[in-house]
Amino acid sequence: MNAFEFNNPTKIIYGKGEIKKLETNIPPQSKILLAYGGGSIKSNGIYEQVVAAISDFKVTEFAGIEPNPHFETLMKAVNIIREKNIDFILAVGGGSVIDGCKFISAAVHYQGDEWDLVEKGLARKQEKVVPFGTVLTLPATGSEMNSGGVITKASTQQKRTFGGPQYFPVFSVLDPAVIQSLPKRQIANGIVDAFTHVMEQYLTYKHDAILQDRISEGILQTLIEIGPGIMENPKDEKLAGNFMWSATMALNGLLRLGVPTDWSTHMIAHELTALHGIDHARTLAIIAPNLYRKLFEDKKEKLAQYGKRVWNLKGESEIEIAEKAIEKTVDFFESLGIDTRLSDYTEDYSDTAQIVHDRFKERKWLGLGERQKVGPELAKAIVEMSY
Ligand code: NZQ
Ligand code: ZN
Repeated sequence: MNAFEFNNPTKIIYGKGEIKKLETNIPPQSKILLAYGGGSIKSNGIYEQVVAAISDFKVTEFAGIEPNPHFETLMKAVNIIREKNIDFILAVGGGSVIDGCKFISAAVHYQGDEWDLVEKGLARKQEKVVPFGTVLTLPATGSEMNSGGVITKASTQQKRTFGGPQYFPVFSVLDPAVIQSLPKRQIANGIVDAFTHVMEQYLTYKHDAILQDRISEGILQTLIEIGPGIMENPKDEKLAGNFMWSATMALNGLLRLGVPTDWSTHMIAHELTALHGIDHARTLAIIAPNLYRKLFEDKKEKLAQYGKRVWNLKGESEIEIAEKAIEKTVDFFESLGIDTRLSDYTEDYSDTAQIVHDRFKERKWLGLGERQKVGPELAKAIVEMSY
């Protein structure tokens, strides 16, 4: 196992009805920016619960943070906070609202072009940030318990990641009842996003961190076990709770400790959202299987382990099991109603591989992945294979 340090300061408040605990978890006398998305919280009772819990505070609302949140929208919130001297942000939503609030947290006290916080990685150096907490409404990204974010500059169709230890939420409320109002499409997205997060910290090469592998396999098996049921019955409290906690555990930093990781599925897939507006999880389902196929030689041992332990596959050889494991993964995504080819989502895809190639080159992403092999050429080949 490689050396590591681990510090995750986010307090998790899990349970049905626990939104009421906002009152005692937000620092007293805070002036709050209550940030949310396009309004789902107003039709499912979450808004009422939040407003009741923070009624003793001075609150300014900021609505309209869109999926794949836009820099342009978030800057409006930054200006409101600056004008009103707001000192705490409450993000109520899915990954987009939470990531958006991480950016807002970074930008308020930054002097300069705020996009540099993302593009030039300056968010990591920003010392003065605005603290924030979250009420998660969509289990998927793990953003509620990690310190990264992804935002989009709409004017240039750029979707970029940023982060730093100062962007952990102070707390996150995980009430599994929020799942009840999620459309099937978003539940399926959440399962596939969480699944892929685990795979990126697991599907590399064999190492000696036994526990990390077993935890990863446990999360994958849980998602496979509960996936079909939660799609059919989001009111099932047992399934909802396990889904929510699996998604949080998939990307809260625990799985990557001391092991090789390969985030290239996400880095390629973000370009498909940036260029074609496809839901985040669906871009992963398009890219991941072909990335595994292209990097089969490097990943075959781990693919076979995954096939045997997670899917109970048997076969003549390790190679056969590894190949079957990729097919099982594709079948699983498709069983949730998620298409796995770019052409299923857009007709206008023919330039995509070349643009991805050029963007990788421009950003000097020459060697992503556990063996630093995924550069512009391989990224292009993987996207072409995904048409
Ligand atoms: O905006 P509203 O009206 O709230 O509707 C949202 C949105 O349309 C809706 N929704 C959320 N909770 C709901 C609900 N509808 C009914 N009932 C509820 N309880 O769902 C839609 C999608 O929401 P969004 O927040 O965009 O989805 P998700 O949580 O999948 O977040 C995706 C974003 O997170 C980034 C993605 O790239 C993407 O931008 N990611 C962030 C990560 C991180 N910070 O660690 C890691 C991930 O890999 C991912 O990249
Ligand atoms: Zn993701």
